[in-house]
Amino acid sequence: MEILVQETVDKMSEVAAKVVAKTLNAKPNCVLGLATGSTPLGLYKELVRMHRDEGLDFSQVTTFNLDEYVGLTKDHEQSYHYFMHENLFKHINIPKQNIHIPSGTTENYEAFCSWYENRIVECGGIDLQILGIGSDGHIAFNEPSSSLGSRTRIKTLAKQTIDDNARFFDSAEDVPIYAITMGVGTIMEARKLLMIANGKAKAEAVAAAVEGPVTSMITASALQMHPHALCVLDKDAASSLKMLDYYDWIQAKMVDAP
Ligand code: PGA
Repeated sequence: MEILVQETVDKMSEVAAKVVAKTLNAKPNCVLGLATGSTPLGLYKELVRMHRDEGLDFSQVTTFNLDEYVGLTKDHEQSYHYFMHENLFKHINIPKQNIHIPSGTTENYEAFCSWYENRIVECGGIDLQILGIGSDGHIAFNEPSSSLGSRTRIKTLAKQTIDDNARFFDSAEDVPIYAITMGVGTIMEARKLLMIANGKAKAEAVAAAVEGPVTSMITASALQMHPHALCVLDKDAASSLKMLDYYDWIQAKMVDAP
C-alpha cells in the first residue's frame, strides 16, 4: 500500500482530487467508485472546482456508489442519493443515466444486489474506487466480521457506526439499522483503490488497517491484499502509524528512485 501523509485535510482532499483527475484524463470514460460521509466532502468540492475552472469533463464517466441506508428515500436529506446529488452530481456534467447508487427502497434487495454487481461488470469494472474508513475500520458498510470475500448485500450497522453517524440525524434512534453495501470482495475488484482519512478519531482504525493483520474485524485491512491501493491521510489520521518516518522517507526518495 502506498501511504501519502499531508499536512492538512485540505491538502489531503487536493491530492485525492488530483488522483481522480489523473484517472479521468487518462480514460475519459472511466468508471469511478464513490464514497459518502464527511471525509470526501473536500475531495468533491475540489472536483467541482476543477470542473468549473479547469474544464474537468465528466460527460463520459460512469459512477457506482458504495452504499445507501435501507429505508431512506432518494430525497431524504440523510440519504446518500441526496448527499451525492448535493455535493457532486448537480455541479458537474455527468449524464444522469451513468450514475449508480444502491437503492434503499427496492422491493427486492436480493435481486437489486445481484443487478448492481452485474451492472459494475457490464460497465467494464471500476477503475478507481474512493473509500473512507469508519472508526471501527469498516470500508463502505462492511462492519467488523464481514467476509473479506463479501458481495453487495444488506448489512446490519454496528453500534459504533450508528453512534458515529448519529451526528447527521436528530438522534441515534433515527439512524437506519440496515444498509445496502458493496462487499469487500466487490471493492477489491476495482483496479485501483484510493482510501482517504482525516482526524484523530480515525488514527487507530488507519493504523490497524495499514499495519495490523489482515482481518475481517478491520475490513479496511483487506487493502493490504490489493496491488494498487493508495492511502492519503492528513497528519492526525496518520498519527498512530508506527512506520510513519519510513512512508515519508519513501515519498522523499521517490523522485530519484530507479
Ligand atoms: P466519515 O465516514 O467520512 O463520515 O467519517 C467514513 C466511513 O464511515 O466510511
